[in-house]
Formats: sequence, C-alpha cells, structure tokens
Amino acid sequence: CLCLVVDSQMCWFGCRCSHFFLGHMTDLINTEKDLVISLKDYIKAEESKLEQIKKWAEKLDKLTDTATKDPEGFLGHPVNAFKLMKRLNTEWGELESLVLKDMSDGFISNMTIQRQFFPNDEDQTGAAKALLRLQDTYNLDTDTLSRGNLPGKAHRSEDCFELGKIAYTEADYYHTELWMEQALKQLDEGEVSSADKVYILDYLSYAVYQQGDLSKAMMLTKRLLELDPEHQRANGNMKYFEYIMAKEKEANKSSTDAEDQTEKETEVKKKDYLPERRKYEMLCRGEGLKMTPRRQKRLFCRYYDGNRNPRYILGPVKQEDEWDKPRIVRFLDIISDEEIETVKELAKPRLSRATVHDPETGKLTTAHYRVSKSAWLSGYESPVVSRINTRIQDLTGLDVSTAEELQVANYGVGGQYEPHFDFARKDEPDAFKELGTGNRIATWLFYMSDVSAGGATVFPEVGASVWPKKGTAVFWYNLFPSGEGDYSTRHAACPVLVGNKWVSNKWLHERGQEFRRPCTLSELE
Ligand code: OGA
Ligand code: FE2
Repeated sequence: CLCLVVDSQMCWFGCRCSHFFLGHMTDLINTEKDLVISLKDYIKAEESKLEQIKKWAEKLDKLTDTATKDPEGFLGHPVNAFKLMKRLNTEWGELESLVLKDMSDGFISNMTIQRQFFPNDEDQTGAAKALLRLQDTYNLDTDTLSRGNLPGKAHRSEDCFELGKIAYTEADYYHTELWMEQALKQLDEGEVSSADKVYILDYLSYAVYQQGDLSKAMMLTKRLLELDPEHQRANGNMKYFEYIMAKEKEANKSSTDAEDQTEKETEVKKKDYLPERRKYEMLCRGEGLKMTPRRQKRLFCRYYDGNRNPRYILGPVKQEDEWDKPRIVRFLDIISDEEIETVKELAKPRLSRATVHDPETGKLTTAHYRVSKSAWLSGYESPVVSRINTRIQDLTGLDVSTAEELQVANYGVGGQYEPHFDFARKDEPDAFKELGTGNRIATWLFYMSDVSAGGATVFPEVGASVWPKKGTAVFWYNLFPSGEGDYSTRHAACPVLVGNKWVSNKWLHERGQEFRRPCTLSELE
C-alpha cells in the first residue's frame, strides 16, 4: 500500500488509501468561493476609494486651473484665500490618509484564517501521484487525460508541466516524458500558457535520455538550443550525447535493430507489476475474461423472500447472481435514497476521526481529517441503522448481533482498497480475538452512490468485477461452512477515476450462525 494511512480497527488485511477525501474537498470548494466573494468586496472597496480620490483630483484640477490663471485675482477673494488655507491644512491631510488607507484588511484576515485549512505541498504532490496511479490503472493516454475527454475539464499546459515535474522529482521518467510531451504539444498548437518551452524541453530531453532514447534526447536538445542557443546545460548535454553516440556507433558496428531496442524498453517500463496487480487493474478497467456462456447461463435473477421470512413474503426483493464461485449475489433496491442520506449524514462528521499510523512512534494517532474516510455506526444511535441491520439479518439468514457495526466508507478520486481478504487467515489467529465472535464469515456491502468512472469491486482470483450501483448491495461468504477461509474471495475496491464512491458494509461473524449455517462434512465446501 502506498500511503501511511491505516484505518485502525477495520483494516486488518489491507489498507485503504485516498489522497482526496470528498468531504474535505467540498469544504475547500466552499472556502475558495468565500474567498472569491471576499476578494470581490476588497476590489469594490478599492474601487470606491479610487473613485473618491479621482473626484478630488478632478475638483482640484479645475480649481488650480482657475487659480493659476490669475493668482492675484483668485486670492483677492477672501473666501478663496480661506479655502486654500483649509485645503492645505486639513483636506490634503485627509486625502493623504485616504490614499494610505488599507482596504485589504478584511480580505487578508479572511485569507489568513482560511489558509490554515489549505492543502500543502504534500497534498498537491499526493494529488498528482494519485493522478499518475489512475493513469496506469485505467490505461489512460496523456492526451485523453489532459484534454478532458473524460467527464471533466481539460488541463492547461502548465498543469501538464507541473505533473511532469512531480513525476521527475519521483525519478519517474516514464510519466515525466508523457506529461512534458503533452505540455509541449499543447504549446505547439498555440495554447497561451505560462509554461516555457525551454524548461519543458530541458526536462523532456533528460527524461527521454534517462529512458535510453539517445537520438530522441538529442533531437529535443537541438530544439531547445534553437530557442535558446546560449543554454549552458543543453550545450553541455549536446556534446555529451554526441560523444556517447559516437562511442556506441564504434561498439556497435554490426547494426542493431532499433525496433527491437524500443520494444525492450517498453517491456522495462511495464515491469515490476505483480501478476495480481496486473489482474486487478485489468478488472478495474472492465477487461476481465468473460465467463463461458454455459456458465453464465447458470446465473439467475429472482424475487427472494429471505427463505419465507414473514417480512418479505408479501414483498420479496430482487436478487441477482453476480458470480457463481464464490457465490456473489446482488440485492436491488435494497436501501432507499432517504436511508442512504441518513447514513451519510450520520457518518460524515465521524469520517474526520480516523486514525493514522505514525511512522515514528509506530502508534495509531488521531488522523488529520483529510486522509480519513470511514466511520462506524451503531444500531443504537439511529432507527435507520437498526432497520438496516435487521434487513441484513432477514435476507442473509445470519445473526447480526455478533456482527461488527455498520461501516461507512467514502472513496474520493484515487481512493481505493487494495486486494485483501475480509477474513483472518490461519497465521493471524489473534485478529478478532478481542471480539470473541470468531472469524468474519460473510460480507454485506451496500453501494450508496453511483460512480461516474472506476470504483468497481473486483475479485482478482476469479476475475469478477462488480460495478457500484446506488441502492444495491452485494453479499458473499468469506468462509466455507467448515470455517475454512475461501481464498477465492480475495477482493479489492478499484480506484475511483471520476466522481466519488460511498459504500457501507457489515462484516458478519461466525458466532450465532451455528444452526443458521451448519458445517458440512467436507472442509472445502
Ligand atoms: C471492504 C471492501 C469493497 C468496496 O470494505 O472490505 O472490500 O468496493 N470494500 O468498497
Ligand atoms: Fe473487503
């Protein structure tokens, strides 16, 4: 996991990372809006001040005109003489005060107050890294991402330049090249920007050189030198490139296959992804292998009455098979918009109270609000939560009294939950000891929002992708009836690409299910 954020209680087997926490981001948008209002007030105040000064100047202009034309005649009038005295003694002084008056007080103090909530450099870098991660997961080409073919806005070339620079400081020359190239392309197409071609070419040629494409690095450096022939580093680099080039030619008299080389480099760029990672990302993009039609035919949908549960006999619920092995079912229209709103409202203030793992002390400490994103809701605190718990009990046939509380989670853009098991494995026998209710037998997961792009729940072991759909819920068993963990339930929440994702889940435990889900004779059944 890339981040230091670890949710204290529920994060036994993975960690949830998100650099953008939606609640906080919404606050930031409001903050910025307030600041704009305050800035406009300041402009108005400054304008009215200037207006007053202008009027003064005009009045005085006329007056001094007449006065200078005939000073003696002018002063011959006693009132004029008095007025001149008065002006010079008091009015010019007042004007001086007006000119010196600082109209920016309100705006500046607003700014000072708000600034403490602003993101810092680390946040900005985090946001950029999240973007690079999304780019990889969803195979987005830089052009699409930059020009806003995604739902959203296009980047300006200075933003591309900034992203490239962040990749550069991470020694990530692959992304440096992509983003610097994009910045350059947009400038070449005539975009007006503060980004400077010379700077871009400087970074770009270096990133290209670092990746071993010497001739392209030379070409770019040449371009740079056309724009700025005196550029010291570029001149130095050019000489160095020529030297290396010559040396390589010497060593490589037998001609090398240039295409072979680039292919090798592409391989290198793509290396160090674990097979699981690759699968996970593929599933996130919706590129999973399709089930055979024969197998798919055995997936059904039905009205389900909770096994003749009195509460559902007259109004059964819609249930769909999402997957066969492990069996994953989805319930439709299972939580109403009103219930979702209530759950979100209850959770929101608490989402800012998660904990982080302090890398220095190794202890869990109260988290900075911006990285927190989950909360627990107890059935006691709201009839809505209690009703939801009962619904889960009725429809799963499992006892919810031994379950953990309802967990609400919010994933912002880039938010994800890497592949994990919900159950404790044999080498972690202490994981749920404190609870005394055994292992996590099953997971119930409500989708409380639609997600514009990304955010699927995927099962890399078996190749299943479950897409979020507001108002639905999925359910699966993590354990076999024997109590053995079902490794095929390994799953992940894909990074959110656009929009944000709200889920809530209930982890049901073994105790209390002895007669509700009795064990069978075989271990892996
Ligand atoms: C979990 C989980 C998946 C999702 O909370 O344990 O795996 O899609 N969530 O949010
Ligand atoms: Fe999970």
